[in-house]
Order: sequence, then C-alpha cells, then structure tokens
Amino acid sequence: MPIAFDPLAPGFVESPYEQYAALRAADPVHRSELLSGWVLTRYADVDRVLRDGDVSVEPTSAAANPVIDAEIERMERGGRSAATLVLRDDPDHARLRRLMQAPFGPRAVDRMRETVAARVSEALDSAIGTAGAGARTGRIDVVADFAYPLPVALFCELLGVPAEDSPKFRTWTRSVAQNLDPFLTSEEREANLALYDEMNGYLSDLVEAKREQPGDDVMSALVAAEEDGQRLTREELVAQVVTLYVAGHEPVTALVGNGLLALVRHPDQLSRLQADPSLLPHAVLELLRYDGPNQFVRRIATRPIEFDEATIEPGQVIYPGVGAANRDPARWGDDAESVRIDRPDAGSHLQFGAGIHNCLGAHLARLQAEAMLGALLRRLTDIDLAGDVAWSPRMVLRSVDRLPITYRTT
Ligand code: HEM
Repeated sequence: MPIAFDPLAPGFVESPYEQYAALRAADPVHRSELLSGWVLTRYADVDRVLRDGDVSVEPTSAAANPVIDAEIERMERGGRSAATLVLRDDPDHARLRRLMQAPFGPRAVDRMRETVAARVSEALDSAIGTAGAGARTGRIDVVADFAYPLPVALFCELLGVPAEDSPKFRTWTRSVAQNLDPFLTSEEREANLALYDEMNGYLSDLVEAKREQPGDDVMSALVAAEEDGQRLTREELVAQVVTLYVAGHEPVTALVGNGLLALVRHPDQLSRLQADPSLLPHAVLELLRYDGPNQFVRRIATRPIEFDEATIEPGQVIYPGVGAANRDPARWGDDAESVRIDRPDAGSHLQFGAGIHNCLGAHLARLQAEAMLGALLRRLTDIDLAGDVAWSPRMVLRSVDRLPITYRTT
C-alpha cells in the first residue's frame, strides 16, 4: 500500500507522531501531492537540509507550484511585503538578522528575567486566585487562563505596545499562525489575511510613533538599529516586527500547554521535576523535543539534493519535519516516544530550526517557558487532567487549545 502524508486525517491534530513514524519507516523522503512538495521525517535529513547553505526560503525560487504560486499571488494582490527575514536568503537575510539580533541575545534576554518573573507571578495569581489561607483545590484551563494571554501581554510590554492594545494581538497572531498551513480554503485564507493587514497597519503606525518618540523598549531599539551606516527601511522594520509577533507569541503558549500536558501524561517525570526544580531548564529542552510547537519548516532546493530514496530537483519545495525528526529513534533511541527530562542530548532537538534561519527568539522562548512552567509546578500540586483536551486544527503550529486541570495549592 502506498503511504500518503495526510494532515487532514482523523486523529492527526491529536497526535501526528503515528503518521510521522509510518512515513519514516516506509517513505522517509515522501512526495506529497497535497502539499506539492517533499516531506522529510528523518532527523539526519531534516538537519542536513536546514544546514544546507544552498537551499532557499524565498518563494520566488520555486518552480511552478500551486501552493507557492497562490502565496505569491496573494502577496502581490494585497500589496503585502515579503521583506521579512524568514523569507529572505543571504545577503539580505544576514543584513536583516544582524540588525535585529541585539535585543534577543542571551545578555539582553537575561535583563528581561525579572520583568518576566513578575508578570508570570501576577498572571498566575489572577488565574488561580490568592484569596484565603491554607490548602485549596481548584480548576483552571491552563491555556485560556494563563498560557495564552500571558506571552502576548509580555511581548507587548517588551516591545513597547500599550497594554490596552495587547488583547487585539491575540486575535491577530492566532489567524496569522493558522495561515502558515499550506492547505487552507480560500475563504479561511482571506479572513486571516484581512486580520494580518489590520495588524500590519497598527504596527506600521506604532513604528512611526516610536521613531518620533523612542522609549526604552525593543521596538525603539529596532527603529534605532544601525550597522555600518545601514538601517532597516520602514517597510522592512514593519515586516520584522510583524514577524516577531507571529513567531514569538503562539509558539510560547504552545510550548507551555503541550509541555505541561506531556508532564501530566508522564506523572513520574512530573513528580521528579516538582521534587527537583533545578532540572527545569533541561526539562524544557526535552519538552521542546518531545512535543514542541513547530512541526514543519519550508525550503526550496536550488540544486539537486540526493537521498538514497529520491533526488529533490531544483525549484522543488521541501517540508523538513522538525517534529518528526525530534522523535526519530535513529537519533534518540528506542525511548524517543517518551519524555525523559534528563535525556542527556535533549539540547540537540530541532524545534528552533538549525542553520542561518535558526530561531532568533530561542533564549526568550526558553526564559518564558521556564518561568511559566516553573511557577505552575512550584505553586500547584496534585495536577491532574479535568476533562478532554482540545488541539488546534493546524499542521505547522501544533498546540493544545484547551487544557483543563485540577490542582491543590498549599
Ligand atoms: C517555543 C517557542 C518557539 C519556537 C518553537 C520557535 C521556532 C522557530 C523555528 C523552527 C524557526 C526557523 C524557521 C525556519 O527555519 O524557516 C524560527 C525562526 C524565528 N523565530 Fe522562533 N520560535 C519560538 C519562539 C520565538 C520567539 C519568542 C521569538 C521572538 C523573538 C521568535 C522569533 C523568531 C524569528 C525572528 C525567526 C526567523 C529567524 C530567521 O529567519 O533568521 N521565535 N523559530
């Protein structure tokens, strides 16, 4: 029986890992009709393509391809910018990335530690309530009450967006994240793009305001960023700020939700982590590996790329499956499908990509996830599922949408 990658199949959003394992075993370099591209599921192949200096991310590098042609047509029709660093090859990519790097480097992120800890603590207080002394039991939806609203509010604060506008970004980033999927209906696509344009317009006005009146925030730092006399143009700047929102909000929510669910489903690991919180930074790496948000990235071959099973030709589109790679037993051993918070090499996961486009926000993402999971595990005990969980119906950005739990506080 030929095997087909089918992200629309029943059960895929709940767990895509069975399909990944079947593909990896039977057809690891898989030609997908649905995606009009190649799906890779082995760690070695995904890692190799991500680090290949000759692959492109620019849609215009693709040969005739219905998915990409429609994307280019939508961009041109809507006058939308392709200036984001995510869709640029070198040398443009390197220039944009250098200009954006400073506010997200390890030292700059370390300076955000106190603000992040304070906001996490306030958000958890408001989610679980602080009234009354003594032990209490309670029930929350971790996503709706804590993991969804907090990263966007924090991101707005760090970027210098007025607090009262932060709820708007919840709707905007959700629809833009959904647009990463290659097979939406045109109605869904148009509705999402209208929201994208709204967000773009808002951020464009805000960039202008920061230029006139800079503040002590990341957006003002980007407005001022200059290297070798070069600055970001206004269009570039707006495109990068939009990218920061799209890339920086939903995946952090998803990491916390997916990560906590993975721990609840592995109670021995949850107890171990609660008994020894010093394991948390390493545990976050393992949670990224085990069920991280990003399932696929996209690349375009510019020369033939040979695998034992097939050759990908120039102009063809590739979907390196980072989620699949992170469960490949050839890389992780026979227990690849379980959580092991002290897995020695968990840091080699591919959740943050690899090569020149590796995640610019990896330090910030880990800081936030450690602070949020740390606070939940410190303040809540006897955490248990309190009903059905629900998953977002998406292929690229995997996230648990509803995560009801019961708990005790002491
Ligand atoms: C758990 C959270 C996150 C995950 C799993 C994640 C994952 C990724 C991945 C896989 C890529 C590579 C995309 C590609 O190769 O095509 C990427 C790129 C990127 N990420 Fe993240 N990300 C996270 C959080 C963040 C945050 C908080 C920010 C905000 C600063 C951010 C900003 C970016 C940017 C700007 C890029 C583009 C880098 C480039 O093209 O050079 N990400 N991210």
